[in-house]
Amino acid sequence: MPQHLLAIDDVEEDFEKILRWAIEFKRLWKQSDEVAMNFMPLDTLAIGSIYEKPSTRTRVSFEVGINRLGGYPLTLLKNDIQLGKSETVGDTSQVLSRFLGGMTYRCFSHDDVTELAANADVPVINALSDKHHPCQAAADLMTVLEHFDEPSEITVAWVGDGNNVLHDLMLACAMLGIDINYAVPEGYEPDEEIVERTMALAEKNGCKVTMMHDPIEAVSDAHVVYTDVFISMGEEHMNDKVEAFDGFQVNEEMVSNMDETWKFMHCLPAHRGDEVTNWVMDHKNSIVFDQAENRMWAQMSLLAYFINKGAWDAMGEFMGLD
Ligand code: CP
Ligand code: NVA
Repeated sequence: MPQHLLAIDDVEEDFEKILRWAIEFKRLWKQSDEVAMNFMPLDTLAIGSIYEKPSTRTRVSFEVGINRLGGYPLTLLKNDIQLGKSETVGDTSQVLSRFLGGMTYRCFSHDDVTELAANADVPVINALSDKHHPCQAAADLMTVLEHFDEPSEITVAWVGDGNNVLHDLMLACAMLGIDINYAVPEGYEPDEEIVERTMALAEKNGCKVTMMHDPIEAVSDAHVVYTDVFISMGEEHMNDKVEAFDGFQVNEEMVSNMDETWKFMHCLPAHRGDEVTNWVMDHKNSIVFDQAENRMWAQMSLLAYFINKGAWDAMGEFMGLD
């Protein structure tokens, strides 16, 4: 049975190594290292990416990353395929498994990516569902490891909605032993079952997970503040939701409560003027474009890990990883 990435804690055991692999591979690639540039673990494989929702970062980073690993990226937009119209997710999965070496899927309902995986003979990577965004969390924690020498000594603060991005961010922080405070408005708390999974990981890895409703309390003395849009894809009809986020904008005044080395993170796309100001987005401490670039490097590590583990291991050994 193939292994799948539906939520970031599916790679709990090797999470830090997957990130270190990505950091080192990125470094070698940027030096035009011949071994890295000739690393083709997806050689001759087509990797299909299904999108039910729009995407800039995920689509481009997967297409370019798959190509760099020797694979053939095949982007399948929902309106162009039979999925959901005259075919079930499970049947689509069985058909695509006959052609592809792996699949990525951006969907509305998390149940759909679960069904795709349950019927697949090849690895499935969740490219965002209403519940999880594991590829984002991998890129985010890769970025944190690049920017902080002692990540277990920092506090990450989330200010915003209790959404898909928060779910995997909190799981990922807990897997690396990083304290996380999250401030969400009442009624917009993260999924309880995911919070319980996060708490169990935090206990195992010796860090704290704290829910608050006051954003200023959450960011006080924190090293990173992370936010996302208040209205996610699929929630466009929930116009009233925005009112609950009064006081949740990340701005100059809010970050003045943080550690002086503060960093700003956002999965993007950002709605400038809503959840974050231009001052913060364009500040030298904003690392949002590093996060965006790291989507590709983190996903290259994940693609090789899930689709050709032997090659991923061999490259890890070459790069001197344990
Ligand atoms: N962060 C993210 O997933 O961006 P896209 O929606 O552009 O893929
Ligand atoms: N929470 C956002 C993330 C977009 C990358 C959404 O689901 O639309």
